[in-house]
Order: sequence, then C-alpha cells, then structure tokens
Amino acid sequence: MKLQAVIFDLDGVITDTAHLHFLAWRDAAQAIGIVIDEEFNEQLKGISRLASLERILEHGGRAADFTEAERQAIAARKNACYVESLASLTPQSILPGIKDLIVTLRQKGIRIGLASVSLNAPAILSALGIAHLFDYCADAARVKHSKPAPDIFLAACDGLGVVPQNALGVEDAQAGIEAINASGMASVGIGKDLQGAGLLLASTHELNWPRLAAYWKTRNPVTEALEE
Ligand code: BG6
Ligand code: MG
Repeated sequence: MKLQAVIFDLDGVITDTAHLHFLAWRDAAQAIGIVIDEEFNEQLKGISRLASLERILEHGGRAADFTEAERQAIAARKNACYVESLASLTPQSILPGIKDLIVTLRQKGIRIGLASVSLNAPAILSALGIAHLFDYCADAARVKHSKPAPDIFLAACDGLGVVPQNALGVEDAQAGIEAINASGMASVGIGKDLQGAGLLLASTHELNWPRLAAYWKTRNPVTEALEE
C-alpha cells in the first residue's frame, strides 16, 4: 500500500508549546488555590482545554466546586494567558527536522495533514510560517471525541481524501498514539514511554524520510510506493 499522507500532531511534534501551556495553567490553577508542577503537566499533553481543567480540578480536590460557567471562565483565563505567550513563537520555534521532512514529503507527492486538538492550531501554524505547507488541518472545534478517540485523525484523513491504512500519524502524547492506532493509521511516537507506537523515536532530530520509509516498508512489505 502506498503511503499517501502524513498527519502531524502540533504541540510537542511541530513546536514545543507544552511549557507555554504549563505556565498558563499554573497561573489559572494558582488563582483557584491549586498548585501544579511540570510533572503533573505531562498528563495534560494531547488533552483538550476543558478536559485538562477537569484533571487539574481533580488533582486539587476541587472537582465538584465549580459551575459550568465558572469552568468556562477559568479555561478562558488560561487561554488568554496562553495566547499572549504565543507571541514569542517564530519560524525558529519549529522543532528540529520537521520543516525539512514536510518539504521532502511534499516533493514525494505525500499529502500533509494536521490533527491537533488545540483550538489555537491555525494561529500557531501561521506564527511558525508553515501554514501553507499543510494540505488539510482538521478542525478541533468540530470533533466530538477528543484523543484518545480516533476522531481527529479520521477527520484529517477524510479532509485529505485518504484512507487511514494509507496514512501515517506522528504524536508525542500517549493519548495521541492511542488515537492514531484506533484510526487504523501507522503510528510514530516522539519521546519515551509511549506505549504502542509502531515506531518510537527519541526526538524530532531522528524523524526523517529514510526512517519513515523504512518503517512503512515493514508494515507494507510488498509496497511499490517508496521510490527513494
Ligand atoms: C494539545 C495540547 O495539543 O492542545 C494540550 O497538547 C492542550 O496540552 C490542547 O490542552 C488544547 O489546546 P488549546 O490551545 O485549544 O487550549
Ligand atoms: Mg502533542
């Protein structure tokens, strides 16, 4: 089977916004008397804004303390702080190897998609100066079930006009790897301790076309598709 599309997660794969999310959540949590640290923040990777707030409230023992309107207000405060911090992003904020890989994939006729649950994804791609390199970005606002459900990856496949079996997804979060696997796509994990990744790489430094091609061949041994 031919590799027709590569679908990327954004935060932690294309750029490292996890720390900015952490600083904004730390500020919003502090305002309601909850302390979070970077280790706890690991649990929020790949998790939607409101689901992240749920986890923070549970962590602080305050899960039952806020109305829906109050939760929305806390999430809005976090997002305002986060959006302000996004002003620090420039094309230099793209993680190593990512832009070269995307350019190479495009030269090979492989379509490029985005499957991020971040509602800020379009603004981030623009700040990084690479929005034009994406053929389709799934709209997080229209996806019912967040990762680890496969919905956002399936929406990206649909928008790109490819079936999941002809696509490969790249993720840095456990929930994301589970979402890719559940979609039927091939999964590439960036980082460590990611269970179930078809190919696991320590960082984006190792993410390049020869590695992806070799991995795809192991899944599809009779493929004709990978002219180097
Ligand atoms: C994911 C991040 O990409 O986006 C999560 O890994 C974040 O940490 C989620 O909560 C939602 O982002 P946003 O920008 O819509 O608040
Ligand atoms: Mg991520």
